[in-house]
Amino acid sequence: MKIAFSAPDLPKSGHLAITVAADRSLGAFGAGLDKSSGGQITRAMEQGRFTGKAEEVLTLVAPTGVEIGRLVLVGIGGAPGALAANNAGAAALAAVQYAGESELTLVVDDHAGLAIEAGPFAAEVAFGALLRSYRFDKYRTTLADDKKPSVRKVVVQTAAKGAKKAWEKLEKIADGIFLTRDVVSEPPNVIYPETLAERCVELEKLGLEVEILDEKKMKKLGMGALLGVGQGSSQPPRLVVMKWNGGAKGDAPVAFVGKGITFDTGGISIKPAAGMDDMKWDMGGSGTVIGLMAALAGRKAKANVVGVVALAENMPDGNAQRPGDIVTTMSGQTIEVLNTDAEGRLVLADALWYTQDQFKPQFMVNLATLTGAIIVSLGNEHAGLFSNNDDLAAKLTESGLATGEKLWRMPLSPAYDKDIDSDVADVKNIGRPMNAGSIIGGQFLQRFVNGTPWAHLDIAGTAWSKENKGMVPKGATAFGVRLLDHLVATHYEG
Ligand code: BES
Ligand code: MN
Ligand code: ZN
Repeated sequence: MKIAFSAPDLPKSGHLAITVAADRSLGAFGAGLDKSSGGQITRAMEQGRFTGKAEEVLTLVAPTGVEIGRLVLVGIGGAPGALAANNAGAAALAAVQYAGESELTLVVDDHAGLAIEAGPFAAEVAFGALLRSYRFDKYRTTLADDKKPSVRKVVVQTAAKGAKKAWEKLEKIADGIFLTRDVVSEPPNVIYPETLAERCVELEKLGLEVEILDEKKMKKLGMGALLGVGQGSSQPPRLVVMKWNGGAKGDAPVAFVGKGITFDTGGISIKPAAGMDDMKWDMGGSGTVIGLMAALAGRKAKANVVGVVALAENMPDGNAQRPGDIVTTMSGQTIEVLNTDAEGRLVLADALWYTQDQFKPQFMVNLATLTGAIIVSLGNEHAGLFSNNDDLAAKLTESGLATGEKLWRMPLSPAYDKDIDSDVADVKNIGRPMNAGSIIGGQFLQRFVNGTPWAHLDIAGTAWSKENKGMVPKGATAFGVRLLDHLVATHYEG
């Protein structure tokens, strides 16, 4: 879908949407339209409960006095900031996306009391509309025309200056988000470690340095845990390093690490058949890291950033690892693998160790669809946040609130260590059944973090959405790209 900007100007065709602030407060354009239509907008609002609250929508079909077919009123609430703008754009697009016209004119009116400048506010409205427009239709060959979205272009109209300038960065972030959604949506026969690594290499065109570690290199580094997960698959594992050097030379980088299980059968501890297809998005953490790196490079972030993705397919063939196997990690610590389905923590054990050892980052944040238990705890509203550093945790929480990609901090504590102490190795990869499953995952990962400020985001409940929600259409959400871009932009650039 295309986005364009222009000054407010009543269109002759297509759909029209206008913003309405709290208490049915119209801007200059809305008031003018209301007047020329004989008060139709005011009357429509008074016919129901539409008051201009954030995300409220009211559609007027065939309004009088204008040539457009539909007029959509979209609420932005009181003192709206970027997130309210995003949601308003998404709501406006959703109201007309399939309604039959190819163009939506979206007037971001001159409301008083915005929490951010009016130009960037309009750009954020455009951003929300664009993010909502995402679809993954690559493999549909027989979709009827009347089932496809009709809107192909959104013209955001604003009298304010600076919208286009702000859009330059947002457009690049949207590219990153769409890349994440694309790779996470791809089926597991198309995306496996080697092909996902190739997608990373394509990012060299944005100026990223990309390095692929194959099995031979990983063996040399002693990554027995990552290799163990991959050994039951005919698709060999990979570890990919992506570097963006936009900061001062010699500044320590910040690092993002992603779990990239391109399909998780559970291995020998095999999962039940029902819903196993969900495990195609078990590379969601690495998908987010890849899209984040694309976003940061695309908008030329002034920071040094390293992205590392640990890619493997967890399959149960004759060479697969067994429950009871003991593997030696790059850190030197040994792991007793008691359940081959707790594989994310195994690949991350080596990826985290490698990242801190190799790059000495200011901090590391890993993202992983790590535990079903986090869905039991937090559902689909918050991702779990686990950290050894209160300052990093606070910054992440704040970026989560600002972007709507919300985090909820959960504890780590040495008190949980006894549950993962193994009788025969240094650590075992599961705790007790039905007992703090997500915390155990975090506590396990922490054994492979050597004092570096670190946070683990368990995104098992937020990487995929079964419903359309605001600027996130159902499917791969790209949860974390906006959050971590915000973190870098707010605290680590210049
Ligand atoms: N990839 C799964 C976790 C998951 C579950 C992600 C549902 C998304 C949706 C992970 O590898 C896994 O299987 N975890 C096990 C851990 C257990 C064996 C300790 C789980 O959650 O059951
Ligand atoms: Mn698993
Ligand atoms: Zn998994």
